[in-house]
Formats: sequence, structure tokens, C-alpha cells
Amino acid sequence: MSNYPFTLADINFVPAGVRSPESRYVEGSTEAVKNYEPEIRSVRIANGRVEQDLFKLDTHGFELVPHSTALGAVEDAAHPDIAEIYEPEIDRLLKAATGADDVLIFDHTIRIAGNRNGRRPVFQAHNDYTETSAPQRVAQLIGDKDAARRFDGRVAQVNVWRPLKGPVQALPLAVADARTVDPYDLRKSALVYPGRVGETYHLTYSPRQRWTYFPEMTTDEVLLLKGYDSATDGRSRFTPHTAFEHPETRADAPARHSIETRTFLFFNA
Ligand code: OGA
Ligand code: FE
Repeated sequence: MSNYPFTLADINFVPAGVRSPESRYVEGSTEAVKNYEPEIRSVRIANGRVEQDLFKLDTHGFELVPHSTALGAVEDAAHPDIAEIYEPEIDRLLKAATGADDVLIFDHTIRIAGNRNGRRPVFQAHNDYTETSAPQRVAQLIGDKDAARRFDGRVAQVNVWRPLKGPVQALPLAVADARTVDPYDLRKSALVYPGRVGETYHLTYSPRQRWTYFPEMTTDEVLLLKGYDSATDGRSRFTPHTAFEHPETRADAPARHSIETRTFLFFNA
């Protein structure tokens, strides 16, 4: 399956007529209740392996980076190895890959397909932060004063997505080339949790969007994904992504296990 130049697969979008999509998470459930029916589109998803080194974080919004880890196949985001082993590795990786002066690691999400109680792959084209929720998150994490100082320089939000078991066969991650996503396609979407409201973008379909995935990602590779950039100089800012069901997946393929690490990168003025 990794030799085909592209595949056709279904992706869930927000219907163009829905102005204010909303997802509600009720206590004790990991399933969101949405205020709309997703629009399912069959989309051409290019095999990024064909020109793997072409994709750059600041241009396309995503970049595949070879990177091995001493972290094993943990299943709990609170596992002590994540703070002790994984975070220092990710800090070094991001500084080397982006030239960031400082890296703030603030969240790890482990997703296991079929997981009953925990997080699972997401079937919804989305971007994790918005123009407003990204700076708000920085301020929540480091306080208003330090946040204001950081925004004198450049601030970027980057996810580091890695298989915890490899190679990934079922439910890989598709990413949209940030240059092909119009602001109109990005719908502010409220994520309503008990006691907290988050804001992300959910994506409306457009034929201009170009999708890519990297077949059979291994545990020695990460996908960097840009969720926000304070710079408005033409570089990537928002990079929609989603899990998808690859039509060629074998019925006995192992469940996808992945970890995504959320970070802010700070560049001095
Ligand atoms: C992410 C994300 C979904 C998935 O890394 O931000 O949305 O299915 N991942 O891994
Ligand atoms: Fe996401």
C-alpha cells in the first residue's frame, strides 16, 4: 500500500452552511455530541513518501522528521517516562529542527484505536487552535506578563505526532497543505467540556485543499504539525489534519497507537 502515489478516502468536514460548529463532551464520555451532521467527502490523499523531504513546517505546515526515542510503547499519558525521557528528547528535536530559542511542552495525548475509556483517533478535519485560542493558551500556561513578552518575538504552536507502535497500518493521519486552506474553510468551533470551553477550527471542504499522508510511519519518525503561528509573513499558520480509514488496510492490521505532544515554540525578537 505504500507504493501507490495516492489513495482515495473519506474525510469528515463541516458542511459549508454551518457557521458555528460545536462539540459537547459530557462527563464520563469520550464521545462528542456535535450540533451538526458531518459532511463526508471522498478526497484524494497523496502519498508523501514520494517526495518526503519536500515538505517543510514553515511552508506546508507539516514535516516528517526521522527521530528515534527511548520511550517504549506506553499507554498512559501520565507514565513517568514521558516527563523523564520523552520531553527532553522532544525539546532537543524541536530546537534542532526549527531553531526555536525556547520550547514549552504542555500536553501529551495518547490515542489507541478501539480504546474504550481513553482517547482514540479523531475522524474530523480540524486544526487544534485558532487565531484567538492559541495566544489565550500561552497566557494560561505562563501568565499574561510573560505571554506578552513572548509575543514581542515569534510564537508558534507545533504538535509532534509519533506512532507508539509501528509501522502504522490502520488509521493513519492525513494533513492538509496549509497553503491550500483558505481562511473561509476554517470554522471556529467550540469544544464544550464540563467547566471549560476550548476553541479549534473545524474544516469545510474545498477542492483547492491538497491532502497528504505518510504510509507506514515507524516509531523512529515524527510528524511535526503547525497549529498556529504569530507571524503573518506568508509562512504556514494552520494545518488541518484527521485520521482516516485507508481503503487498502488489511482486516488483521494492528490497532494504531500514537502520541502527540503539544508545544509552543518561542523565537526571540
Ligand atoms: C493531533 C490529532 C488525531 C489522531 O495530533 O492533533 O488531532 O487521530 N490527532 O491522531
Ligand atoms: Fe489535532
